[in-house]
Amino acid sequence: MFKNDRFKYLIDYKKHVKIAKKRLDALGDLDGKKILDLGTGAGYLPYLAKKRGAIVMGVNPEWEEFYDYITEDLGVKTLKHTIAPLEALPFTASDKWDIITAYQCCFHKLGDGRKWGVLDWQMFLNRIFNKHLVLRGLLVIQINHPEVLERALIDTTIRHKWSGNTVRIG
Ligand SMILES: C[S@@+](CC[C@H](N)C(=O)[O-])C[C@H]1O[C@@H](n2cnc3c(N)ncnc32)[C@H](O)[C@@H]1O
Repeated sequence: MFKNDRFKYLIDYKKHVKIAKKRLDALGDLDGKKILDLGTGAGYLPYLAKKRGAIVMGVNPEWEEFYDYITEDLGVKTLKHTIAPLEALPFTASDKWDIITAYQCCFHKLGDGRKWGVLDWQMFLNRIFNKHLVLRGLLVIQINHPEVLERALIDTTIRHKWSGNTVRIG
């Protein structure tokens, strides 16, 4: 069980399944699709995506162990990795994904508490599009800090380079 009561909300299974189902419905047919869920948290999305025929992997930082209680319970395997603007994801060139998702994330927990700025997002997103997403793949990012959303994201030059792929940012 959680050592910290603050995280009890994560075991509200019904609530989280409902949220994950809604997210997956918006992604279309998942049968046979390769999905990478960055900052997967408790892992409800990978758990349900697998049931819909997807080949799915969740990523959580190595230092946030409290999610492990639920991911293990759900049988979801997570890759332990801290996402940072300058660091490549630990995959080979042939590891490409049809859909990459990141819900309620902004990857700000890098140790220094710094929130990413425009350049950080540009580097991260360019890498995702150039290395990790198939052509005409889908990237869905749902930022959980309004301040980050306001400060950062999309500049039309980058959007242009991404033609062929789709990005939904909310
Ligand atoms: C608010 S939770 C959202 C979890 C899940 N996506 C959801 O919607 O329920 C934020 C997630 O981002 C992860 N996270 C924060 N900073 C990260 C980083 N630098 N690299 C990887 N994951 C990070 C946290 O561990 C957590 O799993």
